This record gives sequence, C-alpha cells and structure tokens, in this order.
Amino acid sequence: MREQLTELLEQGRSALMNADSAEALQQARVALLGKKGSMTGIMKGMGRMTAEERPVIGALANRIKEELETLFEERAAFIEEQELQRRLATERIDVTLPGRTRFSGSRHPVTLVTEEICDIFASLGFGVEEGPEVEQDFYNFEALNMPKDHPARDMQDTFYINDDVVLRTHTSPVQIRAMLKHAPPVRVIAPGTVYRRDSDITHSPMFHQIEGFLVDRHISFGDLKGILTTFITQYFGKNVGVRFRPSFFPFTEPSAEVDIQCVICGGGGCRVCKKSGWLEILGSGMIDPEVFRSVNYDSEKYSGFAFGMGIERIAMLKYGVNDLRLFFENDVRFLQQF
Ligand code: PHE
Repeated sequence: MREQLTELLEQGRSALMNADSAEALQQARVALLGKKGSMTGIMKGMGRMTAEERPVIGALANRIKEELETLFEERAAFIEEQELQRRLATERIDVTLPGRTRFSGSRHPVTLVTEEICDIFASLGFGVEEGPEVEQDFYNFEALNMPKDHPARDMQDTFYINDDVVLRTHTSPVQIRAMLKHAPPVRVIAPGTVYRRDSDITHSPMFHQIEGFLVDRHISFGDLKGILTTFITQYFGKNVGVRFRPSFFPFTEPSAEVDIQCVICGGGGCRVCKKSGWLEILGSGMIDPEVFRSVNYDSEKYSGFAFGMGIERIAMLKYGVNDLRLFFENDVRFLQQF
C-alpha cells in the first residue's frame, strides 16, 4: 500500500501539473481524491492491515492527500492567473485611441436673428405673441382692410387652402388676433413663418417675418420713428444711417418703408444696394382706423403703429449672406458658422 500511495502521489502530481484549464484541473482532483477516486480505492485495503501498520499508512495517506491538495491549490492559482493575463491581453481597451468626433449643433441663423430682435423689443416692453400659419381669410386680409377683390391682395401671391383659408402671407394677422384678445394699451412682437407663391434668389415660398405693433393713447408717427430707430441702432450699430420713405399698405396710413445705409458698402453704392447706398429692411405705418374698427378699438381714443420685417433679409444683411436659399439648404458647413 505504501508503494501504491507513493505512486498515487507521483501520478497525481503530473496529472495536476498537466491540467491546463480550471475544468481539467477539477476533473483531475476528483479522479484522485473524490469519493470514487484513486485514493478512496487504495484506502479500501486498510481493513486488511495489522494494527501496527494501520496508523503509519493512515498518516502517510493523510500527508499525500494534503500534498495533492496543496498542488491542486497552487495549480488552480496559476491557471487563474494565466486566464487573467489572457483576458487582459485580448480584452484590452486602448484608451489612447482618439475618440469619435461628435458634432454639436448650433442654432439656425433665422432662429438667432429672431431671438436677438425679440430680445431688443422685449427690453422696450413688447410681449411675444404667435398665430397660426394656416390662417382664415378674415385675419390675413379682410380685417386688415383688404376686402375680397381688393387690388392690394395681388401684392401677395397667396397659397389658398380653400376660399376662406390661406397659408398666411404675412405676420400681420397676429395684429388682429392679439387686438381681439387684449384691450389697449398693447405692445406686441410676433415672429413667425409666412408663405408666398414666389421663388428665386431673393424669394422663397416659405420665409419668416417679425411683426410688431403698439397701441395706446396719443401714439404718433414720432413714436414709430423713435422705436424703430432705437431698434435699428441697437441691432446694426449706432452709426448706421436710417431713412423713412413714404409707402403704401392697406392696413396703415400713413405708411413708410424703412431703409438702412448699405451694410456692405457703407452708403457709397454697390451691387447689393443696386448703387443706391440704401437697403430696405421693413414696412411700417400708423394703424389704419379701418383695422381698429374690425377689432372694436375706438380710433378716437387710441392710435398706434405697426411694422413688419423679413427675418432672412435681416440675417443676410447682418451676416453678409448673399443668397437667401442658403438658409433653407441646411448645409452644415454653412450652419456651423453661426
Ligand atoms: N405685412 C406687411 C408685409 O408683409 C409689412 C407691414 C407690417 C407693413 C405692418 C406695415 C405694417 O409686407
């Protein structure tokens, strides 16, 4: 039995040392020391031993068992370490690899200009209002002193949904909606999208406007000039020239178009201002008593002014963009610059 045990130790050592995975190692251990393993098999012979031999062999068996256990532990630790090294090598993350670039968005120039202009008017006490883009004929035309068959309707090539519903051709219908909602005094600024059947380098069928109006007692053309000049110098700079030129709108009387000195040539004359030195930026005027009548404002007691400007046009002048279509192509190389 002594020889059997010594041989078991030798065989066991090489079995354990040759195991190259955690599972193989566990199998080897079970084969050696498990309930049905070689050690148990050998120990069955104990019964045939003398009383003197038995404790000696028993002690030897115990030592061999301990030795094999120790070998098993060592080998297990080695295999575990090897497995760890293998995973470290194959699952390595290279933290020095450059990351993927993420593009951060920026606000669209039309949004930027809208916000900048609304901020200036907010500081002058104007509140923001909005109206629907699909608008009733009443708000877009009728209440603005443009009855059906009025020749002024031809000024604005309209998209009709049906006889009574249009895509709004300007933001002026918000004047009507706001005045029907609020009694005077009112100061409103109304940005929004508008539509006209028009498409070339300087016209898009969809574009944006900002409407503004103020109604109170004793409002004069001087107030209109004062507010609009304040706005223009805040937005385009103190030194820009401003001029008010007589014009016509059915919903204002008198009416004026406002020009600023050309921001490209400074007034000397160039291609952008068509050699005139001036650029038109908005339409304005004193609100017509007919408009007050359609919203039940008393034109004996109240007066007011209104103005409307194209946002893309302002953005083109502010940022020196020479083609309106760039605003709608949404080329990131263009948009990133704002
Ligand atoms: N609604 C006019 C347009 O679109 C602009 C305007 C607004 C003119 C308010 C006068 C007063 O052309």
